[in-house]
Amino acid sequence: MNDNNNLKLAVIGGDGTGPEVTAEAIKVLKAIAKIEGFTYELTDFKFGGEHYLKTGETLPEGAVAELEKHDAIFLGAVGHPDVPPGVLEKGLLLELRFQMDQYVNLRPVKLYPGVETPLKDKTPEDIDFVVVRENTEDMYAGIGGFLKKGTPDEVATQTAVYTRKGCERVIRWAFDYTQKRNNPKGKRLTLVAKTNVLTYGHDLWDRTFQEVAKDYPDVEADYNHVDACCMWMVKNPEYYDVIVTTNMFGDIITDLGGIIQGGMGVAAGGNINPDPGGTSMFEPMGGSAPKYTGQNVINPIAAISAMAMLLQHTGQPAAGDKVFAAVQQVTGTKMESQSAGRMGHSTTEVGDLVVAALQG
Ligand code: IPM
Ligand code: MN
Repeated sequence: MNDNNNLKLAVIGGDGTGPEVTAEAIKVLKAIAKIEGFTYELTDFKFGGEHYLKTGETLPEGAVAELEKHDAIFLGAVGHPDVPPGVLEKGLLLELRFQMDQYVNLRPVKLYPGVETPLKDKTPEDIDFVVVRENTEDMYAGIGGFLKKGTPDEVATQTAVYTRKGCERVIRWAFDYTQKRNNPKGKRLTLVAKTNVLTYGHDLWDRTFQEVAKDYPDVEADYNHVDACCMWMVKNPEYYDVIVTTNMFGDIITDLGGIIQGGMGVAAGGNINPDPGGTSMFEPMGGSAPKYTGQNVINPIAAISAMAMLLQHTGQPAAGDKVFAAVQQVTGTKMESQSAGRMGHSTTEVGDLVVAALQG
């Protein structure tokens, strides 16, 4: 947390369109800082595909310690067409999440005014929930291996790891979050898992969930199997308030969430370490979109929303709320579409429109 009203921000613009959308998020930060009367310092970190191709390293020695000197991290996008799949994902993004123990992946699914959803007859009133995804365990832990690799007898394992500590801390955080969110339609936390098949790992999750629920009598402790959840997210998204789920299922259902809220141009998320002194990282959910790089056509709304989340979680909640309000004014009244190249404006113009909305 920034105690002296000076926000120290680490910025990883990253690859492809990452730096372009990051520039718009920073443009908005500059405007809101002036309005709200706080200052900030930015430190650029040149990590990503280009850096990897030049140096062979994904996350340089000592990088995490440097990043942790900041109040928060803003990440544009990583992913490069010349880097094989998995290298940057595991070596950079997941490594950052794990090393900084950002155990909450917070992904709001909110349909902003004026944004088109593929769901027939659903409105911003219907699509407004939050997914809390566990962010450090599960099949993402990287435990597994090959036996007789490349032979007809090959065996591969990829183990899902769940710990009591790992699920309890994120479940507790999700209950707290549901309480604070205070949905006027009723506070409901839905555990999404697969207890009918994953009878060890998700039994641990379920037992932990039921135990923690006792400390939150005002929150309805609800359960959905993940397959049914996918169905309900499409048919009745208005059912959900807050979902808490495992890393792998959370990855999948948040892409579904992303598309029902209007696509990767608008979906933002936070990788949060809520512990005192923890460093959190905020990012638009879309990738580096190499084919749009340098064309000034990519949608910066997700990146600007990620900046708003960063502000909300880094000691400037009023600033974050104002940025969200400005974003919704722009999507509601100024943009033709949320797809790259079809917004009716360029990337930089959308950033300018959000700044203009802030300045009222
Ligand atoms: C996400 C992404 C990552 C994930 C990839 C890029 C490793 O899909 O943030 O959801 O699987 O978590
Ligand atoms: Mn994903």
